[in-house]
Amino acid sequence: MDISKMTNVEEKRDVAKKILQYVKDNQTIGFGSGSTSYLATIEIGKYAKENNLHIKAIPTSNEIEELCKEYDIKIGSLVEDKIDWAFDGADEVDPNNNLIKGMGAAMFKEKLNIISSEKTYILVDKSKFVTELGEKHPVPIEVFPRAMKYVAEELGKIGATETIYRGMTENDNAILDTRFEKIDASLEKKIKTITGVIESGLFMGYNIEVMSN
Ligand code: A5P
Repeated sequence: MDISKMTNVEEKRDVAKKILQYVKDNQTIGFGSGSTSYLATIEIGKYAKENNLHIKAIPTSNEIEELCKEYDIKIGSLVEDKIDWAFDGADEVDPNNNLIKGMGAAMFKEKLNIISSEKTYILVDKSKFVTELGEKHPVPIEVFPRAMKYVAEELGKIGATETIYRGMTENDNAILDTRFEKIDASLEKKIKTITGVIESGLFMGYNIEVMSN
């Protein structure tokens, strides 16, 4: 990731540094994806090296996994390890700490980390706060490729006003960026009941703590 091309880089780095207070020796930590998580990974990597801490990461993207390896952070797995805590970024945060995530297309693994962890810290700069989800971003939906047409039709039935194919994920699935007339508490579950949907970027009511500048 090219740090010189990141938006709000100083704000993101400041928030990223706040995560260091939770890093302890011998922990297994869930690492999120995106630029803020990238900066947090660098901070944790440096901190662990300086203090000779043994950290294991459960990364949510290939890019973060590679970065962890650069800092000699061991890579674990959700099958064999238990996450002590996790961190991640977000694209939108509403007043009830509901989130849209996945503009980096990694939300399936990100959601797995969040539900596998007792606590997840969501690191956001001020630009991420919205009054209502969907204000700035579509909801990304990861879909089994051959189900794309069917899923798009079914999304229309539950209030999607626009469904745009963005590309493929690291899991070889398709991403449909979807706008909805209204995003309410039931939408995440409704999306998930459609056959062919792997996961959505809606995170409503998860056990998270939002950290900002
Ligand atoms: C990745 O899939 C996302 O969920 C990111 O956490 C989210 O897009 C935030 O990214 P930035 O920290 O780059 O804004």
